[in-house]
Amino acid sequence: MSHYNIAVISGDGVGPEVIEEGKKVLNALSAPTFTFTDFEWSSNYYRQTGQFIPDGGLDEAANYDAIFFGAVGDAEIQDHITLNNLILPIRRRFDQYACVRPAYLYEGVQSPLIEKYGGDIDLVVIRENTEGEYADVGGRLYQQSNQEVAVQTSVFTRHGTERIIRYAFEEARRRQKKNKVTSITKSNAQGYSMVFWDEVFEQVKSDYPDIKTESLLIDAAAMDFVRRPEDFDVVVASNLFGDILTDISAATVGSMGLAPSANLNPDREFPSMFEPVHGSAFELIGKGLVNPLATILAAAMMVEFLGDNDAGAHIRKAVSDNLRENKVRTPDIGGTSTTTDVGDDIMRRMS
Ligand code: IPM
Ligand code: MN
Repeated sequence: MSHYNIAVISGDGVGPEVIEEGKKVLNALSAPTFTFTDFEWSSNYYRQTGQFIPDGGLDEAANYDAIFFGAVGDAEIQDHITLNNLILPIRRRFDQYACVRPAYLYEGVQSPLIEKYGGDIDLVVIRENTEGEYADVGGRLYQQSNQEVAVQTSVFTRHGTERIIRYAFEEARRRQKKNKVTSITKSNAQGYSMVFWDEVFEQVKSDYPDIKTESLLIDAAAMDFVRRPEDFDVVVASNLFGDILTDISAATVGSMGLAPSANLNPDREFPSMFEPVHGSAFELIGKGLVNPLATILAAAMMVEFLGDNDAGAHIRKAVSDNLRENKVRTPDIGGTSTTTDVGDDIMRRMS
């Protein structure tokens, strides 16, 4: 029977609460089995030690089969510090270049969009996850003066652009749904990087004659995610555009609390990382109000990526049955149950 060693980074805010439920659900599977090793990397750890990740920490994490991640973000520490010292280095160092973010409207969940029902929205955003607008390149000059200058540079390489677009086409083939890839750019305004992206998209698409394609500008795409979400299948976008679109897609399927994310190293050279899209949500800490389903769905993506589709399907069925039945749910989707109640309900359905 397969056994996996999972590095667990619960992190900040509501991270520990949702990770707890995720572990519970994974332990409820009869197979595969897991050993969870907790890493205390977080803003609290930084307050104590001055580091988010101890020296040699990433080398150690590299030995695990996958990383299960809660959240990062702290009320007292600026976001660009927490993020650039914890989650972004993990995504880059482990070359987790494909960020896979499905948005599925479950039966029993109310979309804020009128006349959209279970299954009507079923798309996945493939977000480039290691470069683009998140490349840590730039600088500031003449700080605090009237001559102050801030430069932040986007980086688009052929290697990085081609592989994420290719991943999106492969994903469209794997899904066997609408067989369509939509590419998102802003090439009317960003005449270097985004025109380059469009060219690479044209080149890669010729290898996939079975897949339909569409190219949209990010502003129009943001509108169409609301106006005609049912037309999308696989959507491929740069790091920042993918980030923005996946908050929109999460909202259209009812809640950020239902949106999972996989940061994949498809070549399996390094561990991949699985997390909910929602962040640390400090206003909810300790109240038992946070929806654990995003994390539980991320756990399903993790077991599937590790190679066990049956176990993933088992978790997904429990989640969709829970949502369809509409009894045990957290307040973000109209219920009165707690985080733990929902985790328990999923476990009960899996036994
Ligand atoms: C996300 C988050 C992160 C991102 C932050 C926390 C750096 O918004 O995973 O979508 O922008 O990638
Ligand atoms: Mn985001």
